[in-house]
Amino acid sequence: MTFEKILVTGAGGQIGSELVPFLSDVFGRDRVIPSDIRSNSADSRFLKLDVTDRASVDLAIDKYKIDTIFHLAAVLSANGEKNPELAYKVNISGLYDILESSIKSRVKLVITPSSIGIFGPDTPKENVPIETIARPVTMYGITKLMAEHLGNYYHARFGLNARGLRFPGLISYKTPPGGGTTDYSIEMIMEAVKGKSYQCFLREDTRLPMMYMPDALDCLLRLAEADETRLKHRTDFNVSSFSMTPKQLEMELRNYYPSFEVTYRPDFRQKIADSWPGSLDASAAVSEWDFHPNYDFKATTKDMIANLKR
Ligand code: SER
Repeated sequence: MTFEKILVTGAGGQIGSELVPFLSDVFGRDRVIPSDIRSNSADSRFLKLDVTDRASVDLAIDKYKIDTIFHLAAVLSANGEKNPELAYKVNISGLYDILESSIKSRVKLVITPSSIGIFGPDTPKENVPIETIARPVTMYGITKLMAEHLGNYYHARFGLNARGLRFPGLISYKTPPGGGTTDYSIEMIMEAVKGKSYQCFLREDTRLPMMYMPDALDCLLRLAEADETRLKHRTDFNVSSFSMTPKQLEMELRNYYPSFEVTYRPDFRQKIADSWPGSLDASAAVSEWDFHPNYDFKATTKDMIANLKR
Protein backbone atom coordinates (compact mmCIF):
# COMPACT_ATOMS: atom_id res chain seq x y z
CA MET A 1 0.00 0.00 0.00
CA THR A 2 1.23 3.46 -0.81
CA PHE A 3 0.00 6.90 0.27
CA GLU A 4 -1.35 5.62 3.60
CA LYS A 5 1.24 7.73 5.43
CA ILE A 6 3.30 10.26 3.54
CA LEU A 7 6.44 11.91 4.91
CA VAL A 8 7.48 15.18 3.28
CA THR A 9 11.02 16.31 4.09
CA GLY A 10 11.98 19.92 3.46
CA ALA A 11 8.34 20.77 4.05
CA GLY A 12 9.16 24.39 4.89
CA GLY A 13 10.89 25.00 1.57
CA GLN A 14 9.69 26.42 -1.74
CA ILE A 15 8.17 23.16 -3.00
CA GLY A 16 7.35 21.60 0.38
CA SER A 17 5.28 24.48 1.67
CA GLU A 18 2.94 24.00 -1.30
CA LEU A 19 3.17 20.23 -1.66
CA VAL A 20 1.98 19.64 1.92
CA PRO A 21 -1.43 21.36 1.50
CA PHE A 22 -1.72 19.89 -2.01
CA LEU A 23 -1.17 16.29 -0.79
CA SER A 24 -3.38 16.95 2.24
CA ASP A 25 -6.22 17.87 -0.12
CA VAL A 26 -5.68 14.79 -2.29
CA PHE A 27 -5.06 12.14 0.39
CA GLY A 28 -6.38 13.71 3.60
CA ARG A 29 -4.68 15.84 6.21
CA ASP A 30 -4.01 12.99 8.61
CA ARG A 31 -2.03 11.07 6.04
CA VAL A 32 0.62 13.74 5.53
CA ILE A 33 3.51 14.31 7.94
CA PRO A 34 5.40 17.50 7.08
CA SER A 35 8.97 17.66 8.37
CA ASP A 36 11.80 20.13 8.18
CA ILE A 37 14.96 21.06 10.05
CA ARG A 38 13.19 24.32 10.99
CA SER A 39 10.12 23.79 13.15
CA ASN A 40 6.72 25.18 12.28
CA SER A 41 4.46 25.70 15.25
CA ALA A 42 1.54 26.76 13.04
CA ASP A 43 0.99 23.15 11.89
CA SER A 44 0.26 20.58 14.62
CA ARG A 45 1.42 17.71 12.38
CA PHE A 46 4.84 19.25 11.87
CA LEU A 47 7.88 17.18 12.75
CA LYS A 48 11.28 18.73 13.33
CA LEU A 49 13.64 16.44 11.43
CA ASP A 50 17.26 16.68 10.34
CA VAL A 51 17.64 14.24 7.44
CA THR A 52 21.36 13.89 8.14
CA ASP A 53 20.56 12.37 11.53
CA ARG A 54 19.87 8.73 10.64
CA ALA A 55 18.52 7.72 14.05
CA SER A 56 15.90 10.46 13.87
CA VAL A 57 14.96 9.50 10.30
CA ASP A 58 14.59 5.83 11.36
CA LEU A 59 12.49 6.85 14.33
CA ALA A 60 10.19 9.12 12.31
CA ILE A 61 9.56 6.51 9.61
CA ASP A 62 8.83 3.82 12.21
CA LYS A 63 6.75 5.96 14.51
CA TYR A 64 4.42 7.25 11.80
CA LYS A 65 4.45 3.99 9.78
CA ILE A 66 5.51 5.92 6.69
CA ASP A 67 5.03 4.14 3.35
CA THR A 68 5.66 7.05 0.97
CA ILE A 69 8.30 9.79 1.10
CA PHE A 70 8.60 12.99 -0.86
CA HIS A 71 12.20 13.81 -0.07
CA LEU A 72 12.54 17.53 -0.77
CA ALA A 73 15.20 18.54 1.77
CA ALA A 74 18.11 19.89 -0.28
CA VAL A 75 20.55 22.77 -0.65
CA LEU A 76 20.12 24.57 -4.01
CA SER A 77 22.74 25.54 -6.58
CA ALA A 78 23.83 29.02 -5.50
CA ASN A 79 23.77 28.23 -1.78
CA GLY A 80 25.60 25.00 -2.56
CA GLU A 81 28.47 27.00 -4.07
CA LYS A 82 28.61 29.15 -0.95
CA ASN A 83 28.67 26.08 1.27
CA PRO A 84 29.60 22.94 -0.70
CA GLU A 85 30.09 20.89 2.45
CA LEU A 86 26.55 21.56 3.63
CA ALA A 87 25.21 20.77 0.14
CA TYR A 88 27.06 17.45 0.19
CA LYS A 89 25.82 16.57 3.67
CA VAL A 90 22.17 17.42 3.08
CA ASN A 91 21.87 16.30 -0.54
CA ILE A 92 23.95 13.12 -0.32
CA SER A 93 24.08 11.97 3.32
CA GLY A 94 20.47 13.07 3.84
CA LEU A 95 19.30 11.12 0.81
CA TYR A 96 21.38 8.12 1.86
CA ASP A 97 19.67 8.13 5.27
CA ILE A 98 16.25 8.30 3.65
CA LEU A 99 17.05 5.42 1.28
CA GLU A 100 18.57 3.21 3.98
CA SER A 101 15.73 3.84 6.43
CA SER A 102 13.26 3.19 3.64
CA ILE A 103 14.72 -0.25 2.96
CA LYS A 104 14.76 -1.10 6.65
CA SER A 105 11.18 0.02 7.24
CA ARG A 106 9.79 -1.23 3.93
CA VAL A 107 8.80 2.18 2.63
CA LYS A 108 7.06 1.65 -0.71
CA LEU A 109 7.86 4.80 -2.65
CA VAL A 110 10.53 7.50 -2.43
CA ILE A 111 10.26 10.53 -4.73
CA THR A 112 13.34 12.76 -4.92
CA PRO A 113 13.46 15.79 -7.22
CA SER A 114 16.53 16.11 -9.40
CA SER A 115 17.28 19.24 -11.41
CA ILE A 116 18.58 20.86 -14.58
CA GLY A 117 21.63 21.32 -12.34
CA ILE A 118 22.80 17.81 -13.31
CA PHE A 119 23.74 19.14 -16.75
CA GLY A 120 27.04 20.86 -17.43
CA PRO A 121 28.87 22.95 -20.02
CA ASP A 122 29.39 19.91 -22.28
CA THR A 123 25.65 19.17 -22.44
CA PRO A 124 23.93 20.24 -25.69
CA LYS A 125 22.03 23.51 -25.20
CA GLU A 126 18.62 22.88 -26.70
CA ASN A 127 15.96 20.19 -26.46
CA VAL A 128 18.24 18.10 -24.28
CA PRO A 129 17.23 14.42 -24.02
CA ILE A 130 17.32 12.46 -20.74
CA GLU A 131 20.38 10.48 -21.76
CA THR A 132 23.08 12.99 -22.66
CA ILE A 133 26.45 14.27 -21.51
CA ALA A 134 25.94 15.20 -17.87
CA ARG A 135 29.06 16.58 -16.24
CA PRO A 136 27.85 19.11 -13.68
CA VAL A 137 30.23 21.78 -12.41
CA THR A 138 28.40 22.68 -9.18
CA MET A 139 28.24 20.72 -5.94
CA TYR A 140 24.44 20.89 -6.26
CA GLY A 141 24.53 19.34 -9.73
CA ILE A 142 26.96 16.65 -8.67
CA THR A 143 24.80 15.69 -5.70
CA LYS A 144 21.61 15.64 -7.77
CA LEU A 145 23.21 13.48 -10.46
CA MET A 146 24.34 11.09 -7.77
CA ALA A 147 20.83 11.13 -6.33
CA GLU A 148 19.47 9.91 -9.66
CA HIS A 149 22.01 7.08 -9.72
CA LEU A 150 21.43 6.17 -6.08
CA GLY A 151 17.70 5.93 -6.75
CA ASN A 152 18.30 3.58 -9.67
CA TYR A 153 20.74 1.57 -7.59
CA TYR A 154 18.35 1.14 -4.66
CA HIS A 155 15.67 0.04 -7.07
CA ALA A 156 17.85 -2.50 -8.88
CA ARG A 157 19.60 -3.77 -5.77
CA PHE A 158 16.90 -3.62 -3.08
CA GLY A 159 13.65 -3.28 -5.02
CA LEU A 160 12.89 0.18 -3.62
CA ASN A 161 10.42 2.11 -5.74
CA ALA A 162 12.61 5.20 -6.08
CA ARG A 163 11.46 7.83 -8.56
CA GLY A 164 12.53 11.33 -9.50
CA LEU A 165 12.39 14.09 -12.07
CA ARG A 166 14.62 16.94 -13.16
CA PHE A 167 12.87 20.16 -12.28
CA PRO A 168 13.71 23.33 -14.20
CA GLY A 169 13.58 26.71 -12.45
CA LEU A 170 10.42 26.74 -10.35
CA ILE A 171 8.39 29.93 -10.16
CA SER A 172 6.09 30.46 -7.18
CA TYR A 173 4.91 33.17 -4.81
CA LYS A 174 4.11 31.46 -1.47
CA THR A 175 7.58 30.65 -0.13
CA PRO A 176 10.78 32.12 -1.53
CA PRO A 177 13.27 29.58 -2.90
CA GLY A 178 16.38 28.97 -0.83
CA GLY A 179 19.30 30.16 -2.91
CA GLY A 180 18.87 28.88 -6.45
CA THR A 181 20.18 30.29 -9.73
CA THR A 182 16.73 30.61 -11.27
CA ASP A 183 15.45 32.69 -8.32
CA TYR A 184 15.90 35.87 -10.36
CA SER A 185 12.56 35.15 -12.06
CA ILE A 186 10.61 35.27 -8.81
CA GLU A 187 12.55 38.26 -7.49
CA MET A 188 11.95 40.19 -10.73
CA ILE A 189 8.19 39.60 -10.68
CA MET A 190 7.99 40.52 -6.99
CA GLU A 191 9.85 43.79 -7.48
CA ALA A 192 7.71 44.71 -10.50
CA VAL A 193 4.53 44.15 -8.47
CA LYS A 194 5.93 46.29 -5.64
CA GLY A 195 6.50 49.08 -8.15
CA LYS A 196 10.25 48.92 -7.73
CA SER A 197 13.11 48.39 -10.17
CA TYR A 198 15.19 45.22 -10.16
CA GLN A 199 18.89 44.43 -10.45
CA CYS A 200 19.22 41.03 -12.09
CA PHE A 201 22.14 38.76 -11.22
CA LEU A 202 22.03 36.99 -14.61
CA ARG A 203 22.75 38.36 -18.08
CA GLU A 204 19.66 39.42 -20.00
CA ASP A 205 20.04 36.69 -22.64
CA THR A 206 20.41 33.75 -20.22
CA ARG A 207 17.80 31.29 -21.45
CA LEU A 208 16.69 28.62 -18.96
CA PRO A 209 13.83 26.12 -18.71
CA MET A 210 11.10 27.02 -16.21
CA MET A 211 7.87 25.82 -14.64
CA TYR A 212 5.09 27.30 -12.50
CA MET A 213 4.54 25.66 -9.11
CA PRO A 214 1.01 24.27 -9.76
CA ASP A 215 2.47 22.27 -12.65
CA ALA A 216 5.39 21.11 -10.49
CA LEU A 217 2.97 19.79 -7.84
CA ASP A 218 0.95 18.05 -10.53
CA CYS A 219 4.17 16.47 -11.85
CA LEU A 220 5.09 15.09 -8.43
CA LEU A 221 1.67 13.52 -7.99
CA ARG A 222 1.54 12.07 -11.50
CA LEU A 223 4.99 10.58 -11.14
CA ALA A 224 4.14 9.15 -7.72
CA GLU A 225 0.95 7.55 -9.05
CA ALA A 226 2.41 6.44 -12.39
CA ASP A 227 1.78 2.84 -13.35
CA GLU A 228 5.03 0.95 -12.87
CA THR A 229 4.54 -1.04 -16.08
CA ARG A 230 4.69 2.15 -18.15
CA LEU A 231 7.99 3.35 -16.70
CA LYS A 232 11.14 2.97 -18.77
CA HIS A 233 12.89 5.63 -16.70
CA ARG A 234 12.78 6.08 -12.93
CA THR A 235 14.74 8.92 -11.42
CA ASP A 236 15.70 11.22 -14.25
CA PHE A 237 12.64 12.45 -16.15
CA ASN A 238 13.13 15.81 -17.85
CA VAL A 239 10.24 18.21 -17.26
CA SER A 240 9.84 21.80 -18.38
CA SER A 241 6.90 24.03 -19.31
CA PHE A 242 8.66 26.85 -21.19
CA SER A 243 12.01 28.56 -21.56
CA MET A 244 12.73 32.24 -21.09
CA THR A 245 15.45 34.84 -20.64
CA PRO A 246 15.48 37.60 -18.02
CA LYS A 247 14.97 40.12 -20.82
CA GLN A 248 11.83 38.34 -22.03
CA LEU A 249 10.47 38.40 -18.50
CA GLU A 250 11.31 42.09 -18.17
CA MET A 251 9.44 42.85 -21.41
CA GLU A 252 6.44 40.78 -20.37
CA LEU A 253 6.30 42.54 -16.99
CA ARG A 254 6.42 45.88 -18.74
CA ASN A 255 3.07 45.02 -20.33
CA TYR A 256 1.66 45.25 -16.80
CA TYR A 257 4.04 47.86 -15.36
CA PRO A 258 5.19 50.14 -18.21
CA SER A 259 7.76 51.99 -16.11
CA PHE A 260 9.36 48.83 -14.69
CA GLU A 261 13.13 48.86 -15.07
CA VAL A 262 15.77 46.15 -14.83
CA THR A 263 19.53 46.53 -14.74
CA TYR A 264 21.77 43.55 -15.34
CA ARG A 265 24.76 42.87 -13.14
CA PRO A 266 25.76 39.20 -13.46
CA ASP A 267 27.48 37.69 -10.42
CA PHE A 268 28.86 34.20 -9.64
CA ARG A 269 25.50 32.67 -10.53
CA GLN A 270 26.02 33.52 -14.22
CA LYS A 271 28.62 30.77 -14.50
CA ILE A 272 26.17 28.27 -13.01
CA ALA A 273 23.40 29.34 -15.40
CA ASP A 274 25.79 29.22 -18.38
CA SER A 275 26.47 25.56 -17.62
CA TRP A 276 22.78 24.64 -17.90
CA PRO A 277 20.74 24.04 -21.06
CA GLY A 278 18.15 26.42 -22.50
CA SER A 279 15.48 23.80 -23.12
CA LEU A 280 14.68 20.17 -22.37
CA ASP A 281 13.04 17.29 -24.20
CA ALA A 282 10.26 16.19 -21.83
CA SER A 283 8.74 13.57 -24.13
CA ALA A 284 9.48 10.59 -21.86
CA ALA A 285 7.48 12.21 -19.05
CA VAL A 286 4.64 12.72 -21.52
CA SER A 287 4.63 9.14 -22.75
CA GLU A 288 5.34 7.40 -19.42
CA TRP A 289 3.15 9.36 -17.00
CA ASP A 290 1.15 11.89 -19.03
CA PHE A 291 3.10 15.01 -18.13
CA HIS A 292 0.85 17.89 -19.09
CA PRO A 293 1.79 21.41 -17.95
CA ASN A 294 -0.99 23.97 -17.89
CA TYR A 295 0.93 27.23 -17.50
CA ASP A 296 3.05 28.71 -20.27
CA PHE A 297 5.24 31.81 -19.90
CA LYS A 298 2.40 34.33 -20.22
CA ALA A 299 -0.03 32.41 -18.02
CA THR A 300 2.63 31.98 -15.33
CA THR A 301 3.48 35.68 -15.27
CA LYS A 302 -0.18 36.66 -15.22
CA ASP A 303 -1.05 34.30 -12.36
CA MET A 304 2.03 35.29 -10.34
CA ILE A 305 1.11 38.97 -10.62
CA ALA A 306 -2.54 38.33 -9.69
CA ASN A 307 -1.52 36.38 -6.58
CA LEU A 308 1.24 38.74 -5.49
CA LYS A 309 -1.15 41.68 -5.72
CA ARG A 310 -3.50 40.00 -3.25
N1 SER B 1 16.09 26.16 -9.28
C1 SER B 1 17.26 25.37 -9.02
C2 SER B 1 18.43 26.23 -8.76
O1 SER B 1 18.50 27.28 -9.36
C3 SER B 1 17.55 24.48 -10.17
O2 SER B 1 17.18 23.20 -9.85
O3 SER B 1 19.28 25.86 -8.03
